[in-house]
Amino acid sequence: MDFNFTEELTEKDAVILFFYENSNKLGKTAEDLNKKAGQAISKSLDSAFFKGKEGEVFALNTPFGTDFSKIILVGLGDSESVSTEVFMKSLASGIKEVTSSDISSVSVVMENVKRADIMAANGALAVSLATYRFNKYKTVGKSSSEFSSVSFILTKEESESAKKLSVDTLAVAQGVNEAKDIITEPSNVIYPETFAERALKLTSLGVNVEVLNEDDIKGVGLNLISAVGKGSIYPPRLLILKWKGNVDDDNYPLCLIGKGICFDAGGISLKPARGMGKMKYDLSGACAVFGAIKALALRKAKANVVALLPLAENMPDGGAVKPGDVIKSFSGKTVEVDNTDAEGRLILADSISYAEKTFNPEVIIDIATLTGAITVGLGSLRAGLFCNDEELATALEKAGKACCEPLWNMPMDKEYFDLIKSDIADVKNCTDTGEAGSITAAKFLEFFLRDDKENKTKWAHLDVAGVDWLNTDKPLCPKGARAFGVMLFDKFVRDNFEK
Ligand code: BES
Ligand code: MN
Ligand code: ZN
Repeated sequence: MDFNFTEELTEKDAVILFFYENSNKLGKTAEDLNKKAGQAISKSLDSAFFKGKEGEVFALNTPFGTDFSKIILVGLGDSESVSTEVFMKSLASGIKEVTSSDISSVSVVMENVKRADIMAANGALAVSLATYRFNKYKTVGKSSSEFSSVSFILTKEESESAKKLSVDTLAVAQGVNEAKDIITEPSNVIYPETFAERALKLTSLGVNVEVLNEDDIKGVGLNLISAVGKGSIYPPRLLILKWKGNVDDDNYPLCLIGKGICFDAGGISLKPARGMGKMKYDLSGACAVFGAIKALALRKAKANVVALLPLAENMPDGGAVKPGDVIKSFSGKTVEVDNTDAEGRLILADSISYAEKTFNPEVIIDIATLTGAITVGLGSLRAGLFCNDEELATALEKAGKACCEPLWNMPMDKEYFDLIKSDIADVKNCTDTGEAGSITAAKFLEFFLRDDKENKTKWAHLDVAGVDWLNTDKPLCPKGARAFGVMLFDKFVRDNFEK
């Protein structure tokens, strides 16, 4: 997609104009068009068809008197309370009018939008997200949208500013869209080794990429990761990505960890057949972290962030880990594997201990499609947030709200840990009854943080099992992979770690 920020409206294929619920004065450009089109715009505004509500869209097709094939009216709701979120969603709804036709370019008139430069830059992100498609494997009946160019029409100063701001927003868009690509790829294409190859490409952006292979993983004692990967012909990997935006500082105060189960068959505790194919998306957490690091690198963020991506495939096999097995983790704590389908917490537990020991970060955030139970609790609207520090929880909630990736803070009472006490090991990887499934998974992870009151690592866990695969289209995300977390992490780093 080609984005322009310019002053002049040329009569391209389609034009988008914004209106409000409470005041609908036409700007100069809209007034000119209205005159040419025999008052078609003002008549629509007076009609019952268009009220200017948030996300409302009304299209005038082949309007008489102009060269446009569509004039699209988009509502932004109350003119006093248009957030970037509202603007992005509403513009994305307007763009749907274009993608469902064979229009190739659209102009977006920003004349009656406040903070037009910021909105236009975020608008470019919105269009980029809304028009994402994954159709590389379709060979017949491919619907190839011609749509390839968006021009935001602004004043001279606004367009200069928007152009600068869009470097950052489009970096985020690239991070999200590549994360979606990897999530959507089937598991015969993306497995630990091929994911690692893909991550190595980030070196061209200045990211330091280190790949621990199966022997390295065993060698350093990441036994939970190697246990999970044992049943697959594709051996596990641990990727370490470092973005060092502050060259003079050798510390990495923030560590992001993403669950990268390239396919989750459940292992010996095999999942039922129905819907199992969807379990290719069980690496969404790793992809979100990958996308965030890519975005930080593309926009040259002034922050040091290290990322761990434990990658494995959870398969049933003669050599696979079995229910009842006891494994000594990297931390030394022992785990009874009661259910091999609760594998995500195993690879994350070792990654958390490894991160603390190797990088001693102030903050660790892990993100994972960890439990079916979070889908029951929160659906596809919010991800579950589990945290040992109130300030960190608040900062994450704030970042999530600002970029349409909302979280819900879940309880972490110490009594929940009782449900995962093991008779023969330090902890077991699931409860007997399934109660509090998402919380007990989080308590399991927390157990692997170092036990040091003086030097406590702030830690948060995001359970994205419910939000990371959409069954229906949303304005900013067509159905399928969502890569939840890329925008949130980018915003969180910007607000809390950039110097
Ligand atoms: N990857 C799944 C979680 C999941 C389930 C994600 C459904 C998306 C949709 C995870 O590895 C898993 O299997 N969790 C089990 C844990 C249980 C065995 C304690 C679950 O949620 O059923
Ligand atoms: Mn599982
Ligand atoms: Zn899983």
